[in-house]
Amino acid sequence: MNPRPGERWEARVLDAAAMEALGARLGRMLRVGDWIALTGPLGAGKTTLVRGLARGLGAGGRVASPTFTLLHVYRGRIPLFHLDLYRLEGEAALADVADPEELAAEGAVAVEWADRAPAWMAADALWVAISGPGGEQGRRVVMEARGPRGRELLAALRAAPAGGDHGDDGEAGGGEDGEGGAQPGGLGPRA
Ligand SMILES: Nc1ncnc2c1ncn2[C@@H]1O[C@H](COP(=O)(O)OP(=O)(O)OP(=O)(O)O)[C@@H](O)[C@H]1O
Ligand SMILES: [Mg+2]
Repeated sequence: MNPRPGERWEARVLDAAAMEALGARLGRMLRVGDWIALTGPLGAGKTTLVRGLARGLGAGGRVASPTFTLLHVYRGRIPLFHLDLYRLEGEAALADVADPEELAAEGAVAVEWADRAPAWMAADALWVAISGPGGEQGRRVVMEARGPRGRELLAALRAAPAGGDHGDDGEAGGGEDGEGGAQPGGLGPRA
């Protein structure tokens, strides 16, 4: 695919704290009906980014992969619906979990392993691909807008100060000075 200008944004995210800060930055911008489609291998940092989304929306409480329930909701400024499709057995099984239009009518939606049910995602989702752990330090995050709202979110992300709310946003073009933090664990109970 050849993205048009403004449809793609890329960053190196040096550690988990920076990943959460990036999520929080995006979370502050989210509106009802927004879709964040997360992809990347086991332990990439998808849940970490969603934790940031929830924080950016002002939701309290714990954010973990909704492995067994498939769907969690965090209640902040607007509801954030968090799905993890890792265990999904066929896209049709999602019909028993939630109606995407109902979710999107009430809040923002963030989906881990979104590539397992691409047809279920909103056409205008913001796709966030995270590189796997290992090799280089931190992670590479590539965001791709597939519609007007996705492009709007990317533009806002570009304009927002990278310092985030804690001034600890270790997201960088070069990735030269992240302090540790990279733990290529996270294979979790599903590995
Ligand atoms: N940018 C980063 N750099 C280094 N480590 C990170 C980064 N982001 C997250 N991590 C760490 O990677 C591990 C896995 O993170 P996380 O659970 O968010 O991954 P995940 O993609 O949700 O995995 P799964 O596919 O199992 O759901 C955690 O230890 C987390 O702290
Ligand atoms: Mg996860």
